Amino acid sequence: MTENHPAPDRRNFLAKAASIVIGGLISIVAPVAGVFTFLDPLRRKSDTRGLVRVASLASLPSSGEPRKFPVLDTLVDAWNTTENVPVGSVYVQKTEEGKVRVLNAVCPHLGCSVGYNATSHGYFCPCHKSSFAVDGRILDPKSPSPRAMDELESVVRDGEVWVKFQNFRKGSPDKIPV
Ligand code: FES
Repeated sequence: MTENHPAPDRRNFLAKAASIVIGGLISIVAPVAGVFTFLDPLRRKSDTRGLVRVASLASLPSSGEPRKFPVLDTLVDAWNTTENVPVGSVYVQKTEEGKVRVLNAVCPHLGCSVGYNATSHGYFCPCHKSSFAVDGRILDPKSPSPRAMDELESVVRDGEVWVKFQNFRKGSPDKIPV
C-alpha cells in the first residue's frame, strides 16, 4: 500500500520553512539596524555654525594691522559636548571705530595657511604664491587663487569680536559654503 503525503503536511512544511527564513532575516536585520541607530550621531555633522568669540577689541592694533587668532568652538553631537575644539583660524583687524574685518586664514586656492607680512602690509600664501591686500583682495593678478580671501560675518558685542566661522569650497571663483 502506497502512502501519499497529505496536503496538510506539505502546507506545514512550507509554513515552517517560511517561518525559519523570516526568523533568520529578522535576526540579521534587527542587530544591523540597531548598530546604525547607535552610530548615527557619528555620521551627523557637528554644530559649528554659531557665533564664536575670537578676540577682544582691545587686543587689536588701532593701526589696522591684522592679528591672527585660533577659532575654538564647541562641538555637539548626540552623546557629547566638547568645548574649545580648534576648527580654524582667522585674521581680525580694526577697520574703523568699533568695526572689524574678519578673514578666514585659509587660502581659497587649495587651502594652505596664509601668512601676513607686516612690511608689505599684505597676505601671502607660501604654497603657490598667491598674494592678497590687507582687506583680502587679490593683489597680484597672477595669483593662482580664484577669489579674494574669504571674509566672515562678524559682530562686536561688549568689546568682544564674535564671528560666524565658515569654510568655503577651495579652488572655486565663487564663495560656496562647505
Ligand atoms: S594654496 Fe595658496 S596659492 Fe595655492
